[in-house]
Amino acid sequence: MKSTQMIDSINIDTYMKNHSLVIERKLEELVPEQNISQKQLFLAARYALLGSGKRLRPILALATAEAFGGTVSSTITAACALEMIHSYSLVHDDLPCMDDDDYRRGKLSVHKVYGDALAVLTGDYLLTLAFEVIASDDTLSALQKVDLIRLFSQSSGGNGMLGGQIMDIQSEGGAIDLATLDNIYCHKTGALILAAILCGGIVGKATAEEMEYLRLFGNDLGLAFQIIDDVIDVISPEQKHGKKTPSDAKNNKTTYVTLMGIEAAKQIANDLYDRALIHLSHIDRDTTLLQMLAKKLVHRLL
Ligand code: IPE
Ligand code: IPE
Ligand code: MG
Ligand code: MG
Ligand code: MG
Repeated sequence: MKSTQMIDSINIDTYMKNHSLVIERKLEELVPEQNISQKQLFLAARYALLGSGKRLRPILALATAEAFGGTVSSTITAACALEMIHSYSLVHDDLPCMDDDDYRRGKLSVHKVYGDALAVLTGDYLLTLAFEVIASDDTLSALQKVDLIRLFSQSSGGNGMLGGQIMDIQSEGGAIDLATLDNIYCHKTGALILAAILCGGIVGKATAEEMEYLRLFGNDLGLAFQIIDDVIDVISPEQKHGKKTPSDAKNNKTTYVTLMGIEAAKQIANDLYDRALIHLSHIDRDTTLLQMLAKKLVHRLL
């Protein structure tokens, strides 16, 4: 693995902050307020999307593209499209018929402010808008657009995030083993983390072999990410969901924490992170930034 990027732990924070600002500006431009009859939809979408969120998926997409020589300007629309799909998944995930959480991203959940019907429709809007903005982008080639649309639809669909959400809901209250839990996590969360990384590979024109190593890297990182989410649910429930009771316990979910405890869960996430870096080391590009982002994802507090 080449290493020429002058990046250290201070620079990675600056990188993330600067790229978050670029992402925020682009999202703002892609989802303008519209003073028309259905203006509530655009207000709710902006409420769901703007002003908060760690933006980890679009940042990962940008950093991966940059590692392969892609530019921010050619990746930003696809990166924002993925953030729209992720944000839609959160709006629906919080609904009373799903995890029933009142807070998201430090403020009331969309359904608490706009009602359940508008929350469902806002999710639908963000999902469809994601594909519209990719199709309408003028920096991507026709082939890249088709590849991205295929990637994002598969990653968010029945064999991706959506499939994981179904299995997650169906498993509530029952006893499931670690292999089943891993399968749920790789779908409900891993699929969109992996999509972020492969999106960068598509825009940066990675080779087929590089895409395979990116896939292995993304699979491990995605699973580690959800394991840490389980830990955060227990150690900071109030910051995450606005209530003292952890959301997962409230919903009788089996998680890495219920199966093995906080410390063992953290250790497994760390082992997955180590293995993710080994996969990355097979790629003969400067992946310093991706390594540091992976560390940030696995060692985050919220
Ligand atoms: C939360 O994702 C939902 C999961 C898939 C675990 P994030 O922790 O990335 O949430 P935001 O985007 O920063 O709000
Ligand atoms: C979220 O899993 C997965 C998706 C939203 C697709 P969680 O239900 O654990 O996410 P949080 O904890 O509500 O953010
Ligand atoms: Mg959920
Ligand atoms: Mg949830
Ligand atoms: Mg959670």
